[in-house]
Amino acid sequence: VIAVFQPKLLQGKSVLITAGPTFEPIDPVRGITNLSSGKMGFAIARAAREAGAQVTLIAGPTALPTPYGVSRLDVQSAQQMHEAVLAQVKAQDVFVAVAAVADWRVVGASEQKLKKDASGTPPQLRLEPNPDILATVAALADRPYCVGFAAESENLAQYGEAKRQRKNVPLLVGNIGHQTFGKDDNELILFEENGQTVLPRASKQQLARQLIAAIARRI
Ligand code: CTP
Ligand code: CA
Repeated sequence: VIAVFQPKLLQGKSVLITAGPTFEPIDPVRGITNLSSGKMGFAIARAAREAGAQVTLIAGPTALPTPYGVSRLDVQSAQQMHEAVLAQVKAQDVFVAVAAVADWRVVGASEQKLKKDASGTPPQLRLEPNPDILATVAALADRPYCVGFAAESENLAQYGEAKRQRKNVPLLVGNIGHQTFGKDDNELILFEENGQTVLPRASKQQLARQLIAAIARRI
């Protein structure tokens, strides 16, 4: 109901968002994933839509309902997310990478379920790097306004600005991983070239509205 009275700060703009974890298969019944719930990314998608934007949400496996009016594509692996983003990124005004993308995938995932062998020797999993979706989009010639996220477990103030520069994005949003994964509230730090802004602890939906207002002021 509150949303009805929000100014349409992103009217006429299109926003692409990644959210949730990715799932990297080991075999047809097992895989590697992480503790991202998708709540922050889905809250940002909802807030962007409330602000009048046309919103595309590319989601890894989550149990969350699609926010009203948002167009959603479900993926599993980082490679699938990468392909979906590249297929959608053209003509987007804003890209917000909230997904906790697996940095590595299993080399040659098995097509059949792995079985224990008689000797009890566990399988040796080999990993290879996944593509960096945000860095790929940030390197496009006609790139949208790119916003990264970082969940750190320590040294957020230093790691956040270093990551912003490494990813070559104008805005990187930092939070403390174990204080956000699965929770309904959060606390954010916005890292930008000219300094840091703290968004104090609030619900993820309130923070998402503040973040969308901040993005709207910058584009
Ligand atoms: N990201 C991405 N594709 C990847 C990895 C990360 O798009 N393969 C995006 C995330 O969605 C997030 C930002 O990059 O917006 C930062 O992710 P993070 O995991 O914190 O950064 P990394 O460069 O992977 O560094 P780290 O070693 O700390 O994991
Ligand atoms: Ca990572």
